[in-house]
Parts: sequence; structure tokens; C-alpha cells
Amino acid sequence: MSRFYEKTSTSPVNIAVIKYWGKRDTTLILPTNSSLSVTLSQENLQSKTTIRASPDFKKTRLWLNGIEEIDIDNNKRLQNCLRETRYLRKEYENKLIKEGVKTVIPLSEYNVHICSENNFPTAAGLASSASGFACLVYTLAQLYELPVSTTELSKIARQGSGSACRSLFGGFVAWELGSQNDGSDSQAIQIAPKNHWPELEALICIVSDAKKGVSSTEGMQNTVATSPLLQHRIEQVVPERMKSITEAILNRDFQKFAEITMRDSNQFHAVCLDTYPPIFYLNDVSRAIIRVITEYNSSNEFKKLKAAYTFDAGPNAVIYTLRENVPEIINLIAKYFPGNVKNDKDYFSDPDQLFAGN
Ligand code: PMV
Repeated sequence: MSRFYEKTSTSPVNIAVIKYWGKRDTTLILPTNSSLSVTLSQENLQSKTTIRASPDFKKTRLWLNGIEEIDIDNNKRLQNCLRETRYLRKEYENKLIKEGVKTVIPLSEYNVHICSENNFPTAAGLASSASGFACLVYTLAQLYELPVSTTELSKIARQGSGSACRSLFGGFVAWELGSQNDGSDSQAIQIAPKNHWPELEALICIVSDAKKGVSSTEGMQNTVATSPLLQHRIEQVVPERMKSITEAILNRDFQKFAEITMRDSNQFHAVCLDTYPPIFYLNDVSRAIIRVITEYNSSNEFKKLKAAYTFDAGPNAVIYTLRENVPEIINLIAKYFPGNVKNDKDYFSDPDQLFAGN
């Protein structure tokens, strides 16, 4: 009878309103600018990971989405997350032994089997790597019973996929770029908890669930190497935006939140276009969504912003709005994109199915 130790957990997706794009250190994954995101509620877009450790396992292995075994020997980022969490476990075991605890299980020496699945399209610009790596690191921390803070764990998840550090917290989360070269202060912190702004909703419009053409890793590298606009963004734009959007969130000021969100999405895609050769993540449907939301915002009597679009490294739109506007926006999308709304997988027509932005 083999002995094993097992933990399962789930992690949500986060959608940035100030985008992370560019690394100053590609191994430690240190960003060129700070970023800020909203963590979506768990049920609709999440990763679920089970990790089992056993002295009988010959090798550490990983299966993704129930079918595919991933080659982890050449996956440096995954190895980094495993190494860092094992190191903390080893330290913890040593501490317990020092304290005279008799039965310390040497989990740090066991191989692990990891099963991870997403309940949404993987690598389609819906932040699957964020929830996936956050879930991996969180589940390892649970299995190893690590006595460390979530912010500490965020520094490990960051080394799997930058944006993953933000998925360890719920609510409104900043990833501070930090100033140290060893990454010791490049970490996620919670700006406000999920119940701070319960009226905020995120509507996900799946334009395409195909895998993206240019990965974020490759895209960022090319942008850092070739885009003069990125320098302007890093130095002149993002620091001020981080302050203003934090204020907007703390004051639940949707006008300010929406404007900054749309401006930042626009600038991120402008920076992609400024990359040489250019990177295109938006397609015609994405651009049509931008036009519809722009029109919607300017059509009301007081020109109040009622919705904000944002796009990551793919064509899918996320629309932030306040709960009272959700039915109107769904009708609008259904009206302008009738051919695209084939079934309830294309968009979420039931307000109860929308992902609360909290
Ligand atoms: O963490 P990565 O390597 O998947 O990069 C994510 C980049 C964006 O999603 C485009 C922006 C962000 O801040 O999440």
C-alpha cells in the first residue's frame, strides 16, 4: 500500500486594468511597470489543481486538462516554482526537527504528481497561466503547510507567470514592480477586498477561444527590445495611473475607474502595434466591441461612462460595468453581434452567470 499526501485547491482568473507588459528580468520575472487587476469570482473562470506527494513516485509529473502530460523537465518556470516551495518546506522541516517534533514527514524530498485543469479555454488571452500558476503555488503551500504570507507566495507564483502573483488575492490587487534586482520586493498586495465594491461586474465576451498567435513571453520580449512607446508608458504614464485607479477603486468612482481602464487597454495594444514587427491581438470583432461600448457611453444624456472594455493578449473582451447596467449591455452585445451569439458559451446571457468583479 503506497503512502501519499494530497491537496486540491482552486484559483480564480484576474483581469488587469493596468496592464503588465514587459520584463526587466526574464528569469525572475521582474516587470518593467507595476500593474493592477480585479480578481474574478471563482466559479466561472478558475483553475483546479490536485497535487500528490509520495515517496514511491519515481519522477515529478504534470497533467494539464486531464489529457495532456506536460514535459516539465524543460519547463524552467515550473521548476522554479517547485524549487522555491520545496526550499521553504525544507526550511520548515528543519525548524520542526530543531523544535523537537518527532514525526516530521520529509515531503520536500518526495516527487509530486500534479493534475491541473481550467474550466475555460487555455492560452486564449483569458489569463489561464495566471490562475494556473497561482493554483500550483497555493496548492503546494497547502500540501507543505508553509507558514508564509500570501504576499510571500506571490513572489513565487510570479516566477511561474508574472500575472499569477495577482491571482493569489481576491478583490483588487496591485503587483508592485519593486526596485530590488533579486525580486524580493516585486510582489502582490491587496488594495481592497472583494466585498469592497460588490456592484462592480465583469462581463466576458469570448470572441475566439483559439490559442493566441504570439505568446505573452515572446510578445513582451519583442516589445521591450523595439518599442519606444513602451519607455514613455513605463516612465510617464503607469506610475500616475496606478495612483489614480487605486483612488478610484477606494472611492468606488466608476467614471474614473472606467476611463483609466479603457485608456490603459488602448495603450497596451498601441504598444503592441509599436513593436517591430507589430503584434496584433485585437481582431475586427474586438474593435467593433470597442466602438459599441464607446457609442453606449456617449449616448446617454449626461455622457456618463457606464461600461469599460479591456483586452489582454487576445481578442476577447472583458467589460467592466455596474450591476444595474448588465441587462442593457447584454442586450446591446446580442443586438450588434447576433451572428456571434450561437449559444451560451459565446457570452453569458444570464446576469447570475456573470462574474462579479470582486
Ligand atoms: O503573466 P503573463 O505572462 O501571462 O502576461 C500577462 C499579460 C497581460 O495579460 C496582457 C496583462 C496583465 O497584466 O495581465
